[in-house]
Amino acid sequence: MHMPFLPPPKLYTDLAHWWPLLSPIEEYRGEAQRYHELFSRHPRPVRTVLELGCGGGNNAFFLKQHYDMTLVDISLQMLAVCAATNPECTLVHGDMRHVRVERQFDAVFMHDAVCYVTTEEDLKLVAETAALHCSEGGLVFMAPDFLGESFREGSSHGGSDDTEGRGIRYLEWTWDPDPDDTMYTVDFAYLLKEADGTVHSEHDRHVLGVFPELTWCTVLRDAGFSPAVVRLEATGSGCDDREAVYAITGTRT
Ligand SMILES: C[S@@+](CC[C@H](N)C(=O)[O-])C[C@H]1O[C@@H](n2cnc3c(N)ncnc32)[C@H](O)[C@@H]1O
Repeated sequence: MHMPFLPPPKLYTDLAHWWPLLSPIEEYRGEAQRYHELFSRHPRPVRTVLELGCGGGNNAFFLKQHYDMTLVDISLQMLAVCAATNPECTLVHGDMRHVRVERQFDAVFMHDAVCYVTTEEDLKLVAETAALHCSEGGLVFMAPDFLGESFREGSSHGGSDDTEGRGIRYLEWTWDPDPDDTMYTVDFAYLLKEADGTVHSEHDRHVLGVFPELTWCTVLRDAGFSPAVVRLEATGSGCDDREAVYAITGTRT
């Protein structure tokens, strides 16, 4: 069974132009530095990176200082935001389950976009995409928001303003309607203020996937990686108030 049909979140379609205010680039500096340090420790030097699910390209904005980045996203609206931030990167429109860029990279990176994979079958397709694009000895690095073992319900809020008077404030509510399946829900409430002072609100539901460590490792091993789970200290930036986050890495065998 493949990903059930779910409408894409408004944040990545009609509301994509609000992304830079909802998730400001500066909040990514610390974690991008942490990913760079991890990539630097990989035994085979990393020079080229494919990012699957680049979104607005906030991590890429910092990582491109060190790597030649190719950036893939399923949303044309998010690619437009990303292009404005990262005009020097190669952008590709595609689905991380099926995209074929026809070249290999030293590393394949997936940040929170991998959370939009909600079934094990689709996780296998994503691992296959990663394996096809990763050169021998290369690195796969995935940073989902949660592993099954670290999932917790909760809420947070944030937002920012631009210099022209536009602003966003949001409430983000993470909850799990059915702990026996591989999905959870994040409901967002946005208050969107235009430059003329008008404000309107939007509700946006994101349905995301969560998998235990064993599933991640099995899927990556079956795709041709030697996997490992690494514990990262949380950066404390943005809405990341967790004590620790986990990433899944693998070397292409
Ligand atoms: C939270 S944003 C990623 C932000 C990114 N980590 C950054 O540094 O800016 C999630 C992105 O995943 C993308 N996405 C979701 N499912 C996808 C899929 N199957 N293939 C490619 N991109 C996908 C969405 O379009 C969205 O742009």
